[in-house]
Amino acid sequence: MKSIEVLASVTDFLSRPARLFIGGAWQEAASGRSFAVENPATENPLAEVAQGAAADVDAAVAAARAAFEGPWRQVSPARRGQLLLALADLLEQHVEELAQLITLENGKPIANARGEAASAVNILRYFAGWPTKIEGSTLPVSPASGVPMLNYTLREPVGVCALIVPWNFPLTMCVWKLGPVLATGCTAVLKPAEQTPLVAVRLVQLIEAAGFPPGVVNLITGLGAETGAPLAQHADVDKIAFTGSTQVGRLIAQAATGNMKKVSLELGGKSPNIILPDADIVRAAKGAADGIFYNQGQVCTAGSRLYVHASVLDQVLEELQRHAAAHVLGPGLDPSSSMGPLVSARQLETVSGYLQRGLEQGAELICGGARPEHLQRGHFIEPSVFYDRAERACVAREEIFGPVLTVMSWSDIDELVLRANDSPYGLAAGLWTRDLRSAHRVAAQLKAGSVWINCWNVVDPASPFGGYKQSGWGREMGKNVIDAYTETKSVFVDLG
Ligand code: NAI
Ligand code: MG
Repeated sequence: MKSIEVLASVTDFLSRPARLFIGGAWQEAASGRSFAVENPATENPLAEVAQGAAADVDAAVAAARAAFEGPWRQVSPARRGQLLLALADLLEQHVEELAQLITLENGKPIANARGEAASAVNILRYFAGWPTKIEGSTLPVSPASGVPMLNYTLREPVGVCALIVPWNFPLTMCVWKLGPVLATGCTAVLKPAEQTPLVAVRLVQLIEAAGFPPGVVNLITGLGAETGAPLAQHADVDKIAFTGSTQVGRLIAQAATGNMKKVSLELGGKSPNIILPDADIVRAAKGAADGIFYNQGQVCTAGSRLYVHASVLDQVLEELQRHAAAHVLGPGLDPSSSMGPLVSARQLETVSGYLQRGLEQGAELICGGARPEHLQRGHFIEPSVFYDRAERACVAREEIFGPVLTVMSWSDIDELVLRANDSPYGLAAGLWTRDLRSAHRVAAQLKAGSVWINCWNVVDPASPFGGYKQSGWGREMGKNVIDAYTETKSVFVDLG
């Protein structure tokens, strides 16, 4: 095992306490408190971060309001696009630094962290194209009075946006939300997850360097209940965008009713992945393994329920075991590791609990199920596969958010579709087949915001992403997200 060398700029960044960014100034929390961020591969503390609370949230919202009503309003759409491009260029120049921070605080393999940082650059470039293309329309109205009327619509930024993001993709989750905020002319208070605030701090430093006016993006680090909750309740926040657990999503939706702020939610999933008998089985099994093991299974769209046609079940189980066994568990900074630790002791406890209950409830463990013996420290867990004939165990029905796949078999396609849809979630679904007719028929029947045919986890800034049912409200990316961050104003002019 040989780890890559940590950049001097990263070591230097980690040695300074990370602070809040409010109205263009870096500052301590009003309480003076801070908390430690842990490296999940070593369990050692990485850095100290300011621990915000309600007073800091108030100051950040006030700064976001002042920028929204003031200087940011005067910035032209073309200039907003240029600023986004400048930010994308800065991220591109710092991809390695950002990737190392992601791996250090989240645990994922460095190659995946580099991919995440590169994807953040692409997303910003996509959103840089939008400011000059957000347009209203002129509408053919027919007033009963017969007086001729001109009617047109204006699209206006919704205002101050609270962005609460999780730890599984600590950089791209920030950028998914900041892209449309900055493109539409909104302002933001960003609240990263307490497990992974460091790359968000670095991102906001780059936002400052790109030249965005003070107050356009404000950063509050801290715990969910102390910072996220007051943001969700705040009377001067116009919109809240959240990614995380369905449980907290429900709290946020409730808190938002106080001032009827607009809400978008990207929540949990238990996404069904379906292998038809005519599929390229080798490719499908590889896709299914990647669909669950990528990012240690800590992905909202993880393909955690695998439905395999009975005629190919044995072959698929064999392939899955092979892919699980091929994973090299180790610290993300070691380029030979293909799977890192889970993000925290708590996440490891959750996943271990599921492994134990799955067995108790009659699911058959095909492989994995334990902590790797050769790693003494770090929140590591083996990639694991269950087979659950009855499909009743918790591992077949609940979101685990770990590298745990539950396989079921099927023989009748109509019955299978009902089973695949029998979940409180509806984030993603997939199918593997060579038959065009079944591919499009089944895709149309699945209740999920994303359907992947012969692929998994393909996400693109041009294409909408979001969930049916308890997987969320609204869509991110594409034209849909521009609508979510703008208000439509209808203007009538009497021409009589
Ligand atoms: P979480 O939903 O508690 O945390 C996500 C974000 O919400 C963090 O920034 C957190 O500080 C904030 N938050 C927590 N409580 C809050 C509150 N009362 N008001 C406002 N903001 C609050 O997720 P957690 O506890 O880290 O993970 C628990 C489970 O959630 C995971 O096992 C997984 O099932 C799911 N999850 C789903 C994610 C997704 O991408 N959809 C991402 C992370 C977790
Ligand atoms: Mg939580």
